[in-house]
Amino acid sequence: MKEKVENLLNEAKEKLNNANSLKEVMDLKVLYLGKKGPVNELTTHLKELSSEEKKEFGKSLNNLKTTLSSLFEEKIKYYEEKELNEKLTSEQIDITLPGVHVPIGVPNILEKLIEEVEEVFLSMGYDVVDGPEIEEDKFNFELLNIPKGHPARDAQDTFYLEGEEILLRSQTSPVQIRTMLENGGTTPVRMICPGKTYRRDADDATHSHQFMQIEGLLVDKNISLSDLKGTFDVIVKKLFGESCETRFRPSYYQFTEPSVETDISCFVCKGKGCSLCKNTGWITVSGAGMVHPNVLRNCGYDPSVWSGFAFGFGAERLAMLKYGITDIRTFYQMDLREIEAFNRKDVD
Ligand code: DAH
Repeated sequence: MKEKVENLLNEAKEKLNNANSLKEVMDLKVLYLGKKGPVNELTTHLKELSSEEKKEFGKSLNNLKTTLSSLFEEKIKYYEEKELNEKLTSEQIDITLPGVHVPIGVPNILEKLIEEVEEVFLSMGYDVVDGPEIEEDKFNFELLNIPKGHPARDAQDTFYLEGEEILLRSQTSPVQIRTMLENGGTTPVRMICPGKTYRRDADDATHSHQFMQIEGLLVDKNISLSDLKGTFDVIVKKLFGESCETRFRPSYYQFTEPSVETDISCFVCKGKGCSLCKNTGWITVSGAGMVHPNVLRNCGYDPSVWSGFAFGFGAERLAMLKYGITDIRTFYQMDLREIEAFNRKDVD
C-alpha cells in the first residue's frame, strides 16, 4: 500500500513537471483528485485493512492528498500569474498616442432657434400647440377669410392631395382656426405653433418647397395693436439683442385687419445701410396683424367682445439672420460640419 501511495505521488509529480499550461494542470488536478481519480480509488481499500493498518494507511493517504493539492495549487498560481503578465504586456496602452475623435451629435440649428422662441412665449403664458400637416382646405383657407377663387390663394402655390379639399398646409395659420374652435368662443387663447409648411416653390438659396413657420395667436378682451408691438419687441430683443429696434409697416393679409409687416433694425450695420438690409436699415421678419372680425366670427368669437393679434414668422429666415446663413438649403442638407460650426458660433 505504502508503495502504491509513493508511486502515485511520483507519477503525479512527473506529469505535473511536464505540464505546459494552466489547462493541462487543471486537467491533471481533476484527473488525480477528482471523485473517480486514483486517490479516491485508494480510499476504497481502507475497509479491507486491519484497524492498525487502517490508521497508518489513512494517514499516508491524507498526506498524499494535501501534498498533491498544494503541488497543484502552486503550479496553478504560477500559470495564472504567467498568463496575467503576458496579457498585461500584450495589451499595453501607449498613452502618448493621439486620441480618437468620437463625433457626437449637435442640436439642429433650426430646432434650437424654435426652442428659444418657445421658451420666451411659454414664459409669457402661451401654449405651444401642434396641428396636422395634411390639412383641409377650410382650415388652411376658407375659415381664414380666403374663399375659393380668391387671388390670395395664388400666392401660396399649394400642394393639393385630393381634389380641391385636402392639401399640404401652405401656412401654419390653420392652427389658429383649430385652436379657436377648440376654445369654443368662450375662453381667451394664447398659443404659438411652430411647424412644417409646404409650397410648390422651386428650391434655391431663399426658397424651399418645405419650410418652417412659427404662428402666434392671442385672443382676449381689449387687445390692441400695441400689445402685438410689445410682444414682438420682447421676442426680437431676446433673439437679436437688446439694442434691436422694431417697426410696423402697413400690409395686407386676408385674415388680419389691420395687417402689418414687422421689421427689425439691421443688426449688421445698425441702421446705416448694408447688403443684408438692402440699404434700408431694416429687415422684415414676419407678417402680423389684428385678427379679422370674420375670422373671429368663423371660430365662434363675437368680435364686439373679443379681439386678438396674430403673427407668422419664417423660422428659417430668423435662423438665417441670427446665424448669418445665406442658403436656406443648409438646414436640409444635413452637413454635420456646417451644423457644428453654427453651434460653435453660438457658444463663442
Ligand atoms: N400665414 C402668413 C404667410 O404664410 C403669415 C402670417 C401673416 C401669419 C400674418 C399670421 C399673420 O398669423 O397674422 O404668409
